[in-house]
Amino acid sequence: MQFFLDTANFNEIKDAAETGLLDGITTNPSLVAKEKRSFQDLLREIAGLVKGPISAEVVSTDFAGMVKEAQPLAAIAPNIVIKVPLTPDGLRACQALSREGKKVNVTLCFSASQALLAAKAGATYISPFLGRLDDVSENGMELIRQILQIYRNYGFKTKVLAASIRHPIHIVDAALAGADVATMPYSVFQMLFKHPLTDRGLEKFLADWKKSSGLTKVDRNSASQ
Ligand code: E4P
Repeated sequence: MQFFLDTANFNEIKDAAETGLLDGITTNPSLVAKEKRSFQDLLREIAGLVKGPISAEVVSTDFAGMVKEAQPLAAIAPNIVIKVPLTPDGLRACQALSREGKKVNVTLCFSASQALLAAKAGATYISPFLGRLDDVSENGMELIRQILQIYRNYGFKTKVLAASIRHPIHIVDAALAGADVATMPYSVFQMLFKHPLTDRGLEKFLADWKKSSGLTKVDRNSASQ
């Protein structure tokens, strides 16, 4: 499973990139607005750091506007993925941009029928929103499973990108279902590393080591000779 960070914050991206475990980035207009900076400058900076896919979302809602907006975004770096909303115009733009060889992430997917349309439109990624479905008492994970099954049935190449992730269980369940990618806030990425027994175990190992005689240190030195 690939891990994308769902953020436009450069410091969060830098920290996550340093782990060596970050595969890509997704942004959306709300996340970009929080940064109060030029979108293009921000994308340029992110692309200098992340070589994997970086989703940049258009804000036009009509076909021609989306296709036009996509051009300067895609020109920023070869790994920019154009993100379009799951609307009739968005799917038309998806087809046109895919034909030009651009990668497209179709976002705001809340049903299996929408995901089927996106795959038929040639989307590189489909982004079902888990958390937002859970918020309205629908089963976000069930949607992921349905999409994966449908894509398998017909051999669609569109990758399932689990989005609107709220906690590590979303990631584990999406991985068990076979989702290709999970995009998550930085806070969730950090949670993935954590377990209280790891902290407690490490503390105990280090305390025992400290209590031990100088012999352990001698052994260590001799091992490196
Ligand atoms: C997907 O690409 C979106 O940016 C994102 O996952 C939305 O998540 P939210 O429901 O936390 O806003």
